[in-house]
Amino acid sequence: MLFTDPDETVLREEIRELKRTRKAVILAHLYQRPSVHYVADFTGDSLELSRRAVEAKADVIVFCGVRFMAETASILNSDKIVLLPEPSAGCDMAAMATAEQVRRKRAELPEDTAVVSYVNSTAEVKAESDICCTSANAVKVVQSLSQEHVLFVPDRNLGSYVAEQTDKDVILWDGHCYVHDPNISADAIRELKRRHPNAAVMIHPECNAAVRRLGDFIGSTSQMLDYASRSSKRAFIVGTEESMLHPLQEQNPHKMFLSSGSVCSSMRVTTLGSVRCALDRMVNVVSVPADIRERAAGAVSAMMAV
Ligand code: 13P
Ligand code: SF4
Repeated sequence: MLFTDPDETVLREEIRELKRTRKAVILAHLYQRPSVHYVADFTGDSLELSRRAVEAKADVIVFCGVRFMAETASILNSDKIVLLPEPSAGCDMAAMATAEQVRRKRAELPEDTAVVSYVNSTAEVKAESDICCTSANAVKVVQSLSQEHVLFVPDRNLGSYVAEQTDKDVILWDGHCYVHDPNISADAIRELKRRHPNAAVMIHPECNAAVRRLGDFIGSTSQMLDYASRSSKRAFIVGTEESMLHPLQEQNPHKMFLSSGSVCSSMRVTTLGSVRCALDRMVNVVSVPADIRERAAGAVSAMMAV
């Protein structure tokens, strides 16, 4: 179901009306198109959107992002209907770990190993985990654990960043996000630095260690927004998905943002047309089976409590 947006003004008005009649709230990740941000009630990184999902006073949550984000909203809101406007919006990294693989790996490790799953994982993998984390709180979550050994699933790069920042023994899963590794390379960031020597470098922790070493700041998408707004620098190299340039530029119109141009195709599929269609027909409902939801909710709620 792919749409173009023939007339944004009409679509915006229709979505506004549908939101009212359906008692819906629209949450949009920062990587979404500007036209989708325009109709969203909240935009943010995955941690902020999880919090918004819990607080939402609505019957319906329209999640403009990728499937694991909509699943997390559903896990936290069993009484609400969660819609993912484009059902094909998956996350390649989340597909790199299955529940069965995690169970098998856990069985090989010392009994007191904690399983920490990055929220960029399936509901089934969350259900196998002791606690979840996002890129915004991974270091804090792992540091808060009583266990010394941690199996970190599925992002090897965020996991290695956590290992650098804590005194835990972090066992890495071999998953990664192609948008950040390899599509954002150390060479590309070095070239941007050469051309803009005064720019501050912001890097998402899903990038590999060689890229992270070039960063003046490492953080989640929302943390980048915060850093850029507070910094006295005038120019910034942005080491994450290139859609981040829009919110950064919007919040900081007098600053300059540069990207090596890496795109997450799943984050681009959602349009105003798909939002309108989902709300109108109440289709593309994301639901998590009750037994998985209950166990996954334990891991997500443990994260929220840190
Ligand atoms: P954030 O948690 O920083 O929003 O990142 C989510 C994501 O999918 C990055 O690729
Ligand atoms: Fe998944 Fe990477 Fe896209 Fe984020 S940018 S949703 S981790 S594929």
